[in-house]
Amino acid sequence: MTEEIVKSALSKVTYPGFTKDIVAFGFVKEIKIEGKNVNVTVDITSSASEVAAQITTEATDALKSAGASDVVINVQAPKMPKESSSKGKNLAPQVKNFIMVSSGKGGVGKSTTSVNLAVALAMQGKKVGLLDADIYGPNIPRMLGVEGMKPEVVGNKVLPIKVYGIEMMSMGSLMEEGQALIWRGAMIMKAIEQFLRDIMWSDLDCLVIDMPPGTGDAQLTLAQGVPVTVGITVTTPQQVALDDSRRSLNMFQKLNIPIAGIVENMSGFIAPDTGVEYDIFGKGTSEAMAKEFETTILAQIPIEPSIRTGGDEGKPVTYCVPTSETAKRYMKAAEDIWAAIEKINAEGGVDNQAIQPNTPPGVSACSTAAAPKQEAPASSGESCGTGCGCH
Ligand SMILES: Nc1ncnc2c1ncn2[C@@H]1O[C@H](COP(=O)(O)OP(=O)(O)O)[C@@H](O)[C@H]1O
Ligand SMILES: [Mg+2]
Repeated sequence: MTEEIVKSALSKVTYPGFTKDIVAFGFVKEIKIEGKNVNVTVDITSSASEVAAQITTEATDALKSAGASDVVINVQAPKMPKESSSKGKNLAPQVKNFIMVSSGKGGVGKSTTSVNLAVALAMQGKKVGLLDADIYGPNIPRMLGVEGMKPEVVGNKVLPIKVYGIEMMSMGSLMEEGQALIWRGAMIMKAIEQFLRDIMWSDLDCLVIDMPPGTGDAQLTLAQGVPVTVGITVTTPQQVALDDSRRSLNMFQKLNIPIAGIVENMSGFIAPDTGVEYDIFGKGTSEAMAKEFETTILAQIPIEPSIRTGGDEGKPVTYCVPTSETAKRYMKAAEDIWAAIEKINAEGGVDNQAIQPNTPPGVSACSTAAAPKQEAPASSGESCGTGCGCH
């Protein structure tokens, strides 16, 4: 046996959930050869035991087929992340952490951000789910290249679609393409609950949730259904976008959701031919807002054609062009988000008990949310006016 033969055999072993092999990923750390005996150390980024088991089996088979007799595969996995210490109602208790991605308005890159952060977290070894909770504009299936793919149904549960190392579910995967949805508040709330309860998510380290734009039914239902560990607001640099983003940050505060930070998207444009940077919508304008809400800017993502084509063609830039500046910024943002999550859990986690609907019939649930001290509507026919969908 030679190192060359060993490497060529190991390059047939793909990393579970990905198309790349363990050699290409750079996970093979040490190869020891004594005659026909081979000892390989593989460093992986996932703490899931299935991943280690699959690599061990496939690497052993590949090496034996290449002529090795005794094969030892040492798979070194990171320790399981700390359990979430969050309390309160949780419709998906197998999920340890929930990351809510919000924006004040549509079209600012919320879905693009959700996809790339989910993929980045998975590339960093986390077990990640991505829930497209944008019921009216489910774009995630296209952005992951799985539009038209129907999920498998097991009993009365639906299996999430596995792609780019993550699990994903979207209304777009459950209904016919192009079909318009005209839903009332109560139906949206039901749909969000079913996404959490009736989808067979694995034991996930985190579920990234792409919310519909704005602050309304979906946001409140989600925050009441699961303890949201952190919220992220996506904004573009223009003043009008920032105005709306303030509302989104304010909503996190009202729902007791810790803010992990702001993603300033479409922040400058670097001309691909000259490398000259142009401020189309402005740049860095969200810094004052970050200060105001005592949070940070997780990333400034420039306008880049590959982000748009990546979205349209189902090839997330973080996965498909990992060397790009944009991919690196998403990876850094994912690291910072994870650090925020670990800190929150170390300090006791989050609790959604205070925002549960515990009001008498006919009184709006949202009027009891921690901060918005509004008078409950006098009669059951009245809306509380917060867009919570109570009427
Ligand atoms: N930084 C960026 N550079 C280029 N195109 C982008 C960028 N961010 C988002 N886009 C594109 O802008 C459009 C809107 O983004 P999307 O993520 O769907 O926004 P939202 O979910 O907030 O409505 C998509 O076509 C997307 O590919
Ligand atoms: Mg979207």
